[in-house]
Amino acid sequence: MFERYQSPPPDVIVELMQAYRADPRPGKIDLGIGVYKNDQGQTPVMRAVKQAEQCYIGIEASKAYLGLGGDGQFVDLIADLVLGEAAKSGNLAGIQTVGGGAAVRLLADMLARNDGMGEIWIPSPTWINHLPIARAAGLKVREYNYYDPDTGTVAFERMIADLSAAKAGDVVLLHGCCHNPTGADLSPQQWADLGALILSRGLLPFVDMAYQGFGDGLEADAAGIRKLATMVPEMVISVSCSKNFGVYRDRAGAALILSENAEGTAKAKAVLLAAGRVNYSFPPNHAAASIALLLSDPALTDDWKAELDEMRVRLQNNRRILAEALRAATNSDRFDCITGHKGMFSLLGLGLDRVLRLREEAAIFMPPDGRMNIAAINVGQLDVIAGGIAAVLR
Ligand code: LMR
Repeated sequence: MFERYQSPPPDVIVELMQAYRADPRPGKIDLGIGVYKNDQGQTPVMRAVKQAEQCYIGIEASKAYLGLGGDGQFVDLIADLVLGEAAKSGNLAGIQTVGGGAAVRLLADMLARNDGMGEIWIPSPTWINHLPIARAAGLKVREYNYYDPDTGTVAFERMIADLSAAKAGDVVLLHGCCHNPTGADLSPQQWADLGALILSRGLLPFVDMAYQGFGDGLEADAAGIRKLATMVPEMVISVSCSKNFGVYRDRAGAALILSENAEGTAKAKAVLLAAGRVNYSFPPNHAAASIALLLSDPALTDDWKAELDEMRVRLQNNRRILAEALRAATNSDRFDCITGHKGMFSLLGLGLDRVLRLREEAAIFMPPDGRMNIAAINVGQLDVIAGGIAAVLR
């Protein structure tokens, strides 16, 4: 029987991770998967997270199941972190999920079960897994233009023109901050204009928040989503704790629903819980419980914020020195937009041939779209990276 399977479509990020690990060259450079690395090339457990974990292990009294929605205190604290005061702008409900990816999937499942739901509009480009998840959930997908490769900024006019064709009941997927893969974020004014369009056309915003704290800081990165929350009657939000708490492999995230209508919120949450039940049943506990402990402790929270700030500042510095090195190596300002980008990624617009040549000739690994993980740049490798890119451009 098993030989009858067709090979599933490849996931380029996961394939790249495997190709990097299998490559024997000693100087290889991994600019692929979205994982923060320090100057030593390591992804350390964050200080406050480690302390919270140790503390939690000391007080953990049972490993019996929690509810299907996981740790309610964790969900409330994450909702506060993302929405701040805007959490009070409607009836809020949420569940803990197996990382941000599962939050996207369960929300997509929930939306697919609603008769009134139209198509889902997804930015082009977007996180490699958004389209497959939406399709796997049974949603009909439309794409909207998001990025202008010539300027390295959001193609806002084209985005608005595309979304003006959306119909009432359609869903618009947005990145809360630090757009993956481009690094190009909406300005505060663009968030407000987009909110007006969403409101006037009766669309439902679905905001994926995976990198809060990596752009301009925890509060600034949430300003767009908070603005939107005060403008629209209903929205859904997927949250990942993988990056800003560094708990990638432990899988902690949340799916949130915000609505003016208390009955609607309660019904939607029940559907979300049922979607989780038939998928993985109960979520894991360790990372979510540790994060809840961390966020309930002012000293641990301060230390976590301080370390997250250090990471953000390092990212911004990496952007600056990379842009300088590329300017010198290519004798052009073509890559200056990297300094204006936010978060972990920038899209270099090199084209597939050059990306593959970089892998072959310089052992520099990037996904086929030329997305670069800015957090993975090690100062000592800067010349190799800039020189390699300049060489494939010649
Ligand atoms: C990425 O975009 O590299 C990360 O979000 C990891 C993943 O799951 O793709």
